Amino acid sequence: MKKAFAVLFAFLFICSISFAEDAISSATLRIEHLPEVETRGNGILVVFFSPDDTVRAAAYTIASALSAELFEIEPVESYTADDLNYFNNRSRSMVEMRDSLARPEITALPDDLASYHTIILCYPVWGGQAPRIISTFLESVDLTGKTLIPFATSNSSGIGNSGRTLQSLTDDSVSWQDGTGIRKGASEEDIRLWAESLDLGN
Ligand SMILES: Cc1cc2nc3c(=O)[nH]c(=O)nc-3n(C[C@H](O)[C@H](O)[C@H](O)COP(=O)(O)O)c2cc1C
Repeated sequence: MKKAFAVLFAFLFICSISFAEDAISSATLRIEHLPEVETRGNGILVVFFSPDDTVRAAAYTIASALSAELFEIEPVESYTADDLNYFNNRSRSMVEMRDSLARPEITALPDDLASYHTIILCYPVWGGQAPRIISTFLESVDLTGKTLIPFATSNSSGIGNSGRTLQSLTDDSVSWQDGTGIRKGASEEDIRLWAESLDLGN
């Protein structure tokens, strides 16, 4: 009997570890675990920047719905809680957003974008715009001939004109679709439905 309890305990312990790996602390969305993503090599890449896990949850949901691949934009210098304090005008994020030329460095870029026709670009809204690191990404990779679709999470303001601002950083060969913004309280289902409604020409 003791042995059976020990085996059961060990099993529950292992389960709790594997769940913990997928658990996320997104305060903004009603998603507690990252959805499973099975890629199909269908030419769709979900690129995301998510210093506080909300966009990460959304990006995984989109990739899961579309069987797309994922690429995370990681800053060379991670954003601390102080850096993300938008109540402080002098915090790093606020200073960057006041400077349209700020280009925070990215640790690594995707090896090759040639196999993707569509990129879904996911970011949090910062001061009504995309974080400057998204500009770094757009200016660092070859997007010739690709379709770009912006997707943003925010507390309340929505995607605003952030997609149009980003569009001005790319050349005319890039085809931008209208993106969407989702606000606090959105569910996995809301995001999945949006992803499935996209016209991806396949
Ligand atoms: C520097 C900064 C500026 C922000 N500006 C806005 C804003 O203008 N409008 C809004 O609704 N939310 C704003 N937010 C809230 C984020 O957009 C929202 O919490 C987002 O989902 C965070 O994504 P993440 O958890 O992946 O970092 C801001 C957050 C930060 C850190």
